[in-house]
Amino acid sequence: MDKYEKIVRLARRRGFFWQAFEIYGGVSGFMSLGPLGVALKRNIMDKWRNTFIVPHQDFILEIETPIVSPEIVFRASGHLEHFTDYIVECLDCGRKYRADHLIEQNTSLKNLERYSTVELTNMIRKYNIKCPECNGRLGEVGVFNLLFKTTIGPYSENIGYSRPEAAQGMFINFHRIYQIMRRKLPLGIAQIGKVLRNEISPRQGLIRLREFTIMELELFFDPKNPQCPLLHRVEDIKLRLLTEDLQRKDIEEPIEISVREAVEEDLIINEWNAYFMALAKEFIESIGVPPHKQMFVEKLPEERAHYAAQTYDQVVYVERWGWIEVSGHAYRTDYDLKGHIKYSGRDLRAHRILKVPKVVRRVEVKPIIETLREDFRDLMPQLIKTLGDLNAEVVAMELQNKGYIDVKISEGSCYRLTRRHIAVITKEEKRGVESFIPHVAEPSFGAERVLYTALEYAYSERDGRIVLKLPRDIAPIKASVFPIVKKDEFIEIALRIYDNLKSASISVVYDDEGAIGRRYMRVDEIGVPFAITVDGHTLVDGTVTVRDRDTWQQVRVHEKDLVKFIKLGCKNPKLSIHEILVTISAQCS
Ligand code: ATP
Ligand code: GLY
Repeated sequence: MDKYEKIVRLARRRGFFWQAFEIYGGVSGFMSLGPLGVALKRNIMDKWRNTFIVPHQDFILEIETPIVSPEIVFRASGHLEHFTDYIVECLDCGRKYRADHLIEQNTSLKNLERYSTVELTNMIRKYNIKCPECNGRLGEVGVFNLLFKTTIGPYSENIGYSRPEAAQGMFINFHRIYQIMRRKLPLGIAQIGKVLRNEISPRQGLIRLREFTIMELELFFDPKNPQCPLLHRVEDIKLRLLTEDLQRKDIEEPIEISVREAVEEDLIINEWNAYFMALAKEFIESIGVPPHKQMFVEKLPEERAHYAAQTYDQVVYVERWGWIEVSGHAYRTDYDLKGHIKYSGRDLRAHRILKVPKVVRRVEVKPIIETLREDFRDLMPQLIKTLGDLNAEVVAMELQNKGYIDVKISEGSCYRLTRRHIAVITKEEKRGVESFIPHVAEPSFGAERVLYTALEYAYSERDGRIVLKLPRDIAPIKASVFPIVKKDEFIEIALRIYDNLKSASISVVYDDEGAIGRRYMRVDEIGVPFAITVDGHTLVDGTVTVRDRDTWQQVRVHEKDLVKFIKLGCKNPKLSIHEILVTISAQCS
């Protein structure tokens, strides 16, 4: 049994996660989280917030936007056209597979995303790859769009899609947040939320889901001022980079290089991405992955998403699947905002103040009242209002190119205006500010992959028992309270301690069933860092034993110091129990 299998069994037995819809046989790519899984995921999300948002709260803000979007959003973002994977069907049993993954599993070939459908079909023929289930002949490779499709409301023509990333919510709302933040850049917008991807054949548990939680941040900056003023804070952090250049030379070992050098040598082309990669390394290290078990792999140009000028995947090593991606770091340039400007007709640009004012040509569009009234009567005021919201340059361009512009004043009511209705006026003007489309650096994490990784790195066995050595700050339950034996005098104190810890918002369990050794075993395997036992000494001097999950060492702590002890220990996961005791004793004296 490998580690993955052991974790899956533990997770199901104790309530971290299990296959969703299990009473109906389960559906691949969907998982349910149990109480411990929910708490662990929440702690991971909080840690992510504390790493990426809280220290930057003066310019990075969190928002929440809908999961379902109208079709136009993903037309503008390019996902309708490009968010696809390769698919192949068995001609005998009809099962469908992700074609590039199937070829990778059956050959030593890697990184096949860059090849065409014809090339992949030829590979399947050349290596005589058959259906893994029935050994049947496979058909031609095709493309499959991973967006989940739905309809919005009772209108079959009103197509909507579930978001496959949270990012578009940030792009669509960039301009509003930019106004709220008094038009300053750099500006970061973050979001944690559910996304859906209709993965072709997900068979890797929490690693490849059809519905998962993304933790994502879009950092908007002026491309003429792309420096990250915080880089000095992380410049000495060492990153392991498997660059495009190394991959082209078939080198599998990454170079280890400081953030500062990686930027100076142009290995990471954007300072903001470099900054977030440094935070990402520390974040993943703090959930339990040592530096030599993680690295950043540069995506080759032909493998990159349609919006990216450079992307590094942060990968971690897991026993069953080798290197898996936990986060993506993309330099998205102005790709997405440009798309939304084009499709919405809105001006989503930012402004920079010019040192020397410049003369510019300004386009204005003016509604022609008489003809609008003549042709549209009562609708005229609404048309004029909507026209006023549109970007004048876009309107002028549409009129010039097509001779008309379609103006949508409400759901289902769209009207065609021509030069008969709109006058275009060009003026010269001296300007002290200029507009530009901001560029974007994006770190994007999958919460469930991080959760699985934390479990894998925490999983250990000692004397045939499971000990889940989760970092204390993400452990779902921080303490357990046991009376040494089930007698009233011990139970009374133990329950009092249990209540006090709950009142202090510490997640805690109480157990008085069975031998003390078995009770330790039950809490070790769900990763509870501190086990508190009320024993004979407690009755005499008010102290209890606190046992450390990882070393099984014990210290005696006075009942009144327990809240402080546990909070300090969880805030500083690296402190030993002896160090915690010394620190709180010093604070008390
Ligand atoms: P992959 O190559 O593994 O499909 P991706 O390159 O499509 O991943 P991104 O689009 O960069 O991934 O998504 C951002 C993050 O979301 C990933 O780093 C990963 O942690 C997570 N993620 C992506 N797809 C899934 C999935 N199907 N299930 C769970 N997490 C996922
Ligand atoms: N936002 C990164 C991705 O999901 O593609």
